[in-house]
Amino acid sequence: MADLMEKIVSLAKRRGFIFQSSEIYGGINGFWDYGPLGVEMKKKLKDSWWKSVVQMRDNVVGLDTSIVAHPQTWIASGHVSNFSDPMVDCKKCKRRFRDDELVKDEEDPKIRAEKIAAMKCPNCGDGELTAPRLFNLMFKTFVGPMEDASAVAYLRPETCQSIFTQFKNVQITSRQKIPFGIAQIGKSFRNEITPRNFIFRSREFEQMEMEFFVHPNESDKWYEFWIQERFQWFQSLGVKKENLRLRPHRADELAHYAKGCTDVEFKFPWGFAELEGIANRGNYDLTQHLTHSGKDLSYFSEETKEKFVPAVVETSVGVDRTFLTLLCDAYHEDEAPTTEEGENEKRVVLRLSPEVAPIMVALFPLSKKLSEPVHKLEHSLRKHFSTDFDESGSIGKRYRRHDEIGTPFGVTYDFDSEKDQKVTVRHRDTMKQERVAIDQLLRYVSDNVTSDNLKG
Ligand code: GAP
Repeated sequence: MADLMEKIVSLAKRRGFIFQSSEIYGGINGFWDYGPLGVEMKKKLKDSWWKSVVQMRDNVVGLDTSIVAHPQTWIASGHVSNFSDPMVDCKKCKRRFRDDELVKDEEDPKIRAEKIAAMKCPNCGDGELTAPRLFNLMFKTFVGPMEDASAVAYLRPETCQSIFTQFKNVQITSRQKIPFGIAQIGKSFRNEITPRNFIFRSREFEQMEMEFFVHPNESDKWYEFWIQERFQWFQSLGVKKENLRLRPHRADELAHYAKGCTDVEFKFPWGFAELEGIANRGNYDLTQHLTHSGKDLSYFSEETKEKFVPAVVETSVGVDRTFLTLLCDAYHEDEAPTTEEGENEKRVVLRLSPEVAPIMVALFPLSKKLSEPVHKLEHSLRKHFSTDFDESGSIGKRYRRHDEIGTPFGVTYDFDSEKDQKVTVRHRDTMKQERVAIDQLLRYVSDNVTSDNLKG
């Protein structure tokens, strides 16, 4: 199925979803740019998460914090001392590897180190390898004009730490009572040693994180609640249930303070891999920041008159990884060539949920002579949906072009439309066509936007 990844990467570039960053300079490993269609889809994906996690609930509020935070943040969180991967260098060709890249399927780092000591560099073939050494994954920078130790700062490796440091401000200003959550979408940076699988693991990416603050006695209940909520969200975006699974972490995978962690995994072309983590983190994070800042981050319950440091249930998912999930899950090639409007080619179709499809309605005048009324129609729909106007090539070609980018509806205006004020609406997945009155088109599209209707 590696071949599916190649097809997706190629489609993403060819159609303007995702480009290699700095391509004209040969690219920069682990960084990607979203093109015109990609940016539309990414925005819709983030909107969908926000709607599900924040807008639809009265007990979750939003936040948008700076990427660079006080460096104490990362000392308190443990990232300065612990956020590292064991690395191995080839003494001859200087190539650097993650130790688990050299010894796959071995959980124990000591056994990995032994195996590495007995092997030669797989890159140059005969170089000796160093013992594994820890390499911190945070990007460092300097704040202000001095480039010395006192000016060191970090690009955040996760968005959640400022949710913890701003916990008190948010709680007071939003007048939320526990249990409640704080959600944030934003960029994170990790100097990953081996960025790979396209946007699955990159060095700059976006996260959508939510920290739900609860009484410690209630954390297990809320942990189970959020696992189900998050698992459901992917399905609401049309991701096939058989491609998703929940994987509770083994005890030896858990951080010492964590009570539990469950990953939502998706079946990527190379196998099941982590998409989102839901963690029952106890009150470790708030306690760390409370200790390091000396500020009281506890909560006082007016009802029970109890003062406590809240426990936290975290949900953390990558925007880019979800984007890749949606592309992989939606990519479809028709087995048999389809004959539609005289086009006899194999059909590639992205069966994206309309909620995230970059374009909702494509409008096609049958002939260039009919462009004017179609422009008018497009303008009337634009207020409600993302649209595209396409007048080049045969209608069949135009359908194919939009199938490939996941446009749910194609609307053709022909010479009869002049007379009967109707257009032909063609559905992406079923290729079913219907005549619809122009003045009913907006209503028609609105009524048909759920994925279930489209799947037919
Ligand atoms: N605050 C918890 C946290 O950051 P994580 O498992 O390190 O946990 C959460 O990251 C999610 O962020 C992952 O499940 C993944 O979707 C995304 N993510 C993490 N590292 C990434 C990377 N290098 N590239 C793309 N997405 C990444």
